Amino acid sequence: MWLWTVLVFFALPQVDGDVVVTPELEKRFPDNFSFGVSSSAYQIEGSWNVDGKGLSTWDFYLHKQPDIVEDCTNADVTTDSYRLFKRDIQMLKHLGVKSYRFSLSWTRILPDGTTNHINPRGIAHYRKFIDLLLENDILPFVTLYHWDLPIAFGKNGGWLNENTVDRFGDYARVAFSAFGDKVKNWITINEPFIHCLFSYELGLHPPLIKSPGKGFYECGRNLLLGHAKAYHIYDAEFRFQGGKVGLVVDAQWPIAASRSEEDAEAVKDYLAFYVGQYLDPVFKGDYPQRLTARVVATSTREGTEFRLRPFSEEEKKYIHGTYDFVGINHYNSVVVYRNESVNGMYEEPSFYDDVGIGTYMDDSWPASSFDSMRANAPGFYSLLLYLKDTYNNPVVFITENGFPLSSAEGLDDWKKVNYIRNYLDALMDARADGSNCQGYFFWSLMDSFEWTSGYGYKFGLYQVDFDDPDKKRTARKSALVYKEIIRTGTTDFNYNPDPYQYNGTVY
Ligand code: BGC
Repeated sequence: MWLWTVLVFFALPQVDGDVVVTPELEKRFPDNFSFGVSSSAYQIEGSWNVDGKGLSTWDFYLHKQPDIVEDCTNADVTTDSYRLFKRDIQMLKHLGVKSYRFSLSWTRILPDGTTNHINPRGIAHYRKFIDLLLENDILPFVTLYHWDLPIAFGKNGGWLNENTVDRFGDYARVAFSAFGDKVKNWITINEPFIHCLFSYELGLHPPLIKSPGKGFYECGRNLLLGHAKAYHIYDAEFRFQGGKVGLVVDAQWPIAASRSEEDAEAVKDYLAFYVGQYLDPVFKGDYPQRLTARVVATSTREGTEFRLRPFSEEEKKYIHGTYDFVGINHYNSVVVYRNESVNGMYEEPSFYDDVGIGTYMDDSWPASSFDSMRANAPGFYSLLLYLKDTYNNPVVFITENGFPLSSAEGLDDWKKVNYIRNYLDALMDARADGSNCQGYFFWSLMDSFEWTSGYGYKFGLYQVDFDDPDKKRTARKSALVYKEIIRTGTTDFNYNPDPYQYNGTVY
């Protein structure tokens, strides 16, 4: 009897004056938390010219100029997922994910990018794929645009040309109408910042347009208009399908190098240029004031034209409020500073000169195989709370988070395991402190083509043997641990001694 009394006493909330003290809750993700993994069409599909597919900028430029890519490779075949999609679904099933984020290839559906010709084989492929996901209880999160622009538009200024905005709207309408009965989570555009920086500021990604300090902003502006166009089309014509539409923004977390006032300003400017440039127009109706002010200041100093074209009142209204959720791709933190050493550090004009800050990685953070990515989970927590406080606590999905390793790491990828565990702990803490984050997608399901970095960076939970004609996939330790996290809804289980001995799950 005394035992029951003791148990009941500890299980019930205890009242201490006016304060109700509950026993500390176990750290656990709720059952409806959307665990998933991410990928993108060009990085995994291969079959670049199969079943009526048209050419994208990536197909075209990588054939023409292979040395754009570090190891002179391309994604003509890559993981061969267009052909092997059933195997990918078995892997998803093995992991136990509830959702899968993938992108549609625009030119598989509209080979020349326009609705002049809709490719029934492209549509049939994705319908089959989506049906099979749903049969396996996996919800599709579909990205319309993950950087593979139809070549005709790429040759015509790409996202610097407003015509691309309208054509994107047409494509979105075709996709909503072809798949919207099954797909309830839509992502319009992946990462405006990275896309505009690499394709239109630095000219390193197709269509290789180098327009520092100008093209970068123009691209971002048009991507926002394209996003808004797709959102309004969904709202006006497809809302009855009961889905949700959002934009995916990449957001790393800036940390001041010192307590100086200048470094504190550097943090705010970083957030305005890298994150606010895209989220403020959507959530608040215009560019952040400090972004505009800095570009005005640098343009005046240089005696150049004002390079950030303001939105008209009508455009502001058109973009404002176009979200049902926001997708965030987050990988790392970055240390930021501003002092005299930054003056004259960057080309003029350029986006970097406009922001006017220096950045570096903290050596004490665990390194990945990318110089620019080191793990710092507390930064992830801070970012989630910043989004909550700055944008009125929107529904957030972490649409990418990951840690690349070199092939030397093999299957026993403990560094990735630690990364996942620490980042998910940070996510749980942020949720406990009010973040409305409802899902997490690890990047990536398997190793794949890492854009201009080629095949050397291993982001996958599954290792892919690219020399094997069958592109054999093998579960890494990180896959088995992520599977257990999903199964238990917690990160808190016994990793050592290791109950997840690599068991040779091969696909
Ligand atoms: C992109 C992915 C890419 C990943 C890792 C993101 O910027 O959306 O396509 O593979 O980062 O670099």
